[in-house]
Amino acid sequence: MPTQIESFFHQETSSFTYLVYDISSKEAVLIDPVADFDLFSGKISYQSAEMIFSQIEAQQLKLKWILETHAHADHITASQWFKAKTNALILIGARITTVQQTFNQLFNLTSIHAATAEDFDQLLADKQVITIGNTPIKCIYTPGHTPSCSTYLIDNHAFVGDTLFMPDYGTARCDFPGGDAGTLYDSIKTIFALPEETHLYMCHDYQPGDRELLWQTTVKEQKIHNIHIGNNRTRSDFINLRQERDKQLKVPKLLLSALQINIRAGKLPIAENNNHQYLKIPINQI
Ligand SMILES: [Fe+2]
Repeated sequence: MPTQIESFFHQETSSFTYLVYDISSKEAVLIDPVADFDLFSGKISYQSAEMIFSQIEAQQLKLKWILETHAHADHITASQWFKAKTNALILIGARITTVQQTFNQLFNLTSIHAATAEDFDQLLADKQVITIGNTPIKCIYTPGHTPSCSTYLIDNHAFVGDTLFMPDYGTARCDFPGGDAGTLYDSIKTIFALPEETHLYMCHDYQPGDRELLWQTTVKEQKIHNIHIGNNRTRSDFINLRQERDKQLKVPKLLLSALQINIRAGKLPIAENNNHQYLKIPINQI
């Protein structure tokens, strides 16, 4: 069935959110919604989400699913905000439990504070299919950047999360806990096995050289032009290149704040006895 795709760019985090809907049923899915967060003041707000929500309302869409491609380290998800407005269900790949374990430990999140599978409405298996109207959405596991990364395939449109970036920026980093460059290589080969005309939608664009903003490419373009993995780069060359580059990268600004919220499907920390919510910063642990 024909679908419509709308992309929204969150400038502060260089992230894309995608709204995809089935034209005949008007059932919709939202992929990787972003909340506004000011690290210095601790203020979380939803102006960017409001803009997307106004589109959902204006087009009278029925938001059915909120999909996370992974637990993001560069922005806080707005998934709970959208769920509260629409009753849509929040889904992620089932290997999120591995990521939850790692970060429950890092942040010492125990008992009611700990992230669990139940924080999400449903965990998706590799190759599991859900639908909007009569349109299937296939979850394809594409780990490497994190253990729980998934690509969502809707018709010939693949929302690849943090795997590939636009060809001139390469690929996603693999130095987070549970990340692995060889695994990312294998996942990208899975994406490359899709038909060459498949449209690929990026999770981020960092506009190298100040070029215009881009978010869509194809399997064919990536196979030829991707600066990290295109032109038939071998697995071992890719691993070397990726690992060398990762050594030079700083910890993302929002990693510690974002993970605490994102591993709980966007739920904010439970309030303390003064009714205030806090994020933790572990000292000298990463
Ligand atoms: Fe990411």
